[in-house]
Amino acid sequence: MLIVGKLRQTRHTVVIRRNNKDRGGRPGVFVVYMGRASGNKGLDKMGRNGWIALGIGVVIALLFAYYGGGGANRASTRGEVVVPARFSETALAGKAIFESKCITCHGKNAAGTSNGPALVHKIYEPNHHSDGAFLRAARLGVRAHHWRFGDMPPVAGVSPEDVRKVVAYIRELQRANGIF
Ligand code: HEC
Repeated sequence: MLIVGKLRQTRHTVVIRRNNKDRGGRPGVFVVYMGRASGNKGLDKMGRNGWIALGIGVVIALLFAYYGGGGANRASTRGEVVVPARFSETALAGKAIFESKCITCHGKNAAGTSNGPALVHKIYEPNHHSDGAFLRAARLGVRAHHWRFGDMPPVAGVSPEDVRKVVAYIRELQRANGIF
């Protein structure tokens, strides 16, 4: 639900409420400051810059709501992962590696913990986080940017081949959960 409200002389508040309770449901509130727009008395007198600023605010707000920025940690799918009946051989090898190197933060079935996000989550689908992102994450670590769990440190003792197997495992979990 999108509410554009509080259109006053110099300030516009854009409120996005996420209906999906699983993702936290916390509304993100975005305030777009218009500067001194003297004489603005409402929508019809907002002027071109006003509309542009409001438009930018709405786009940012929608992106924020889509990627679950507001409710950060609660937006992980902890505990709700469907496990496929069968894994491929590669994925099974990846599962073992995942469970020794990644599970403490990313959780059983990659469903997330309080230390790290669920990887069975639409933001980690292949078009948004390619297999290369997994290789980079394991080798170099990840600076916190999507969530509020903190940084992911580099993971020692996993080869690129190991990570490829982990990726196969995560992709099969993602597919079983309708993520792609
Ligand atoms: C010490 C905790 C920890 C461990 C261990 C860990 N991760 Fe992470 N990982 C995180 C956190 C926290 C993030 C989220 C960073 C953020 O805010 O975007 C993350 C993010 C990621 C991402 C997303 C990268 C991106 O580009 O956004 C991938 C992929 C990933 N981890 C894979 C792995 C794999 C594979 C392993 C095991 C080899 C692993 N992680 C082990 C904590 C961990």
